[in-house]
Amino acid sequence: MDRRRRRARAVGLALALTASATLAADSAPPLRALRWVSPDADPVAVFATEPTECLRQPTDPAAAKALEIGRAAFRTPLLLGGQAARAGLTCESCHRSGRGNPDFQFPGASGEPGTADVTLSLFSSRRGNGIHDPRPIPDLSGPRKQLKVARADLPAFIRGLIVEEFDGREPTPEVLAGLAAYVSALDPAACPAESRAPARVAALMDDARRVLAAARNAAVDGDRPTAGLMVAAARARLGLIDERYAALTSLRTRLRQADAGLAGVQATLRDGRPGAVRQLDDWLRESRSLEAALRSREPASLFNPARLSQAANRRLPPKAS
Ligand code: HEC
Repeated sequence: MDRRRRRARAVGLALALTASATLAADSAPPLRALRWVSPDADPVAVFATEPTECLRQPTDPAAAKALEIGRAAFRTPLLLGGQAARAGLTCESCHRSGRGNPDFQFPGASGEPGTADVTLSLFSSRRGNGIHDPRPIPDLSGPRKQLKVARADLPAFIRGLIVEEFDGREPTPEVLAGLAAYVSALDPAACPAESRAPARVAALMDDARRVLAAARNAAVDGDRPTAGLMVAAARARLGLIDERYAALTSLRTRLRQADAGLAGVQATLRDGRPGAVRQLDDWLRESRSLEAALRSREPASLFNPARLSQAANRRLPPKAS
């Protein structure tokens, strides 16, 4: 798309909504996240690998617990509300692995790739300023001095993002403190040597278990709303696996059963019934055999870059010569 057309498309709310309606009519991309990267981006370069995370681990157990809550919340669409949640956006969609996202482009909410307008009415019924002013998505793991928001101001800033800009529900104090702890612990000094790592099913399963450990802690503390959000974060991880196994029917059935198990935990938490911790322990134990089955068929899934390339290119219209 040339610059003029891109400009013309990127003007204001009416066009933004038209753009998202057009999007819904498109054939669904194999990975949901392809909806918010630039059409010019190479799907394999962007999604066969993931940026690595630059996270400083605190030594204090209470701080570590808060950080895990924030890390999980950062990755769940339920944290945000309205359009963003419906589209499946999370903090991590824009700040991949806590970094930036040079390929991000959400129809109607971005200008050049790598920018987003977080004051657009598309996402917010409250803060939308009606003006299209996309800004570069900052790398939250970059040098502190390049960041605008001071550590002490993070809770207020993040609350504003969730409630005002993304129409999310008021986060629990634990979730808000956790998000601030997570963002504060992102540190360029903690970056691994490699800036990207292959996307693997084992990493996503590990992540689901890590998130559920945070859910278990919150459930033990009697903090059901936070525990529920953590379970939602784990379900979002399963969703990311599910879409890559779309062609593998029997594994998909198992994934959906595993997801239904987590929906059951959410119901237990919501209804205030006892037993969530035991349900979580059962799920965590059974997740090992699910993971083994998934790993054995990983080469046939879209975790395989060649398969991903095929699936992503199949839906592209032939290039005009
Ligand atoms: C649609 C993309 C998008 C999403 C989703 C998003 N952000 Fe951002 N974020 C941005 C952009 C763009 C900026 C820069 C805004 C500016 O410059 O005014 C930003 C800025 C920030 C900053 C300030 C960085 C600094 O300079 O100090 C923090 C912290 C942050 N985001 C955290 C989060 C958290 C936490 C979430 C989830 C609740 C989130 N973001 C969701 C795009 C996004």
